Amino acid sequence: MDSFHKPVLTNEIVKFLAPKKNNIYVDATLGTGGHTLALLRKEPNLTIVGIDQDKEAIELAKQNLQQFKNRVIFIQENFNALVSILALNKIKKIDGILFDLGISSNQIDSNRGFSYLRNSKLDMRMNQNTKLNAFQIINNYKERELIDIFKKYGEERFATPIAKRIVKIRMKSPIETTSQLANIIDQAIRKRNLVKTKSRIFQAIRIVVNNELFSLREALKDCLKVLNVNGRIVAISYHSLEDRIIKKFFQYESLKCICPPNLPKCGCNKIQTLKIITRKPVVPTDEEIKNNSRARSAKLRVAERCYNERKINEYSNHYL
Ligand SMILES: C[S@@+](CC[C@H](N)C(=O)[O-])C[C@H]1O[C@@H](n2cnc3c(N)ncnc32)[C@H](O)[C@@H]1O
Repeated sequence: MDSFHKPVLTNEIVKFLAPKKNNIYVDATLGTGGHTLALLRKEPNLTIVGIDQDKEAIELAKQNLQQFKNRVIFIQENFNALVSILALNKIKKIDGILFDLGISSNQIDSNRGFSYLRNSKLDMRMNQNTKLNAFQIINNYKERELIDIFKKYGEERFATPIAKRIVKIRMKSPIETTSQLANIIDQAIRKRNLVKTKSRIFQAIRIVVNNELFSLREALKDCLKVLNVNGRIVAISYHSLEDRIIKKFFQYESLKCICPPNLPKCGCNKIQTLKIITRKPVVPTDEEIKNNSRARSAKLRVAERCYNERKINEYSNHYL
């Protein structure tokens, strides 16, 4: 591997989660454990449930967090199973949760097909046990489906010519590797070095392979069931689709009422469950971006669980 993953916005994460003795946190995207390590260095008497769906990430995190191994519960799972993961570990409530979305530098530099810069088999599965991989999407999905994926999850304006080219080439023989796919993108738009287009197409396929946006939506909703009052959700996203989901979720959950403005009396029964802590997303400094180019697209948003007896009781009865 070329580089060990450098965690992004670490000081800001420690500041917003403000760990205190005996707190319980979830690191929903443990990766190689960089953020968890920073939290434990700040306050060693924490318990951190470290979740990652990638077996290799969990192994690396175990090595990296060796000195704190008694304080971390390592779980190889999708974070969309948050509620059941905590229930199985007999944890009723947590004091904060961190999402550092996307993939790590270790995954990008691996031979698992995440990057067009490294020639390897088309795969892109974060969880090596899931069925759907990038090869199947590229070789089996209909042209219309590919166009939709590239538009919806890559926001790519050359979606149609790229999908058409893929379908034409795969009629002769299957498209097996990341380099083949990158060449097809070059041929489809007849320009060289289409760095952004290639990144967007690879991102779109990865989102579908790992069902990333669905998992994020599910996990955010689940946070409301398990967060203690004043517990925080801290989320770093790396592209606009993820950021929009987080922003909209925080906005909706922070509303006290969703009645039309002309209604004389509130009848919506809406309950505010979150208070937004970061009105605008926090972004890395120029200095951090200079030292870690992966940080350049990062956006961090934070919200805090509000006191709300009815909702908390309701959830704890139903789900724990
Ligand atoms: C950007 S990296 C996190 C890096 C980590 N914060 C660190 O300091 O090393 C994102 C990690 O989240 C994992 N991941 C992404 N989506 C996931 C999901 N739905 N469930 C579990 N893990 C996920 C990836 O496998 C990857 O290891």
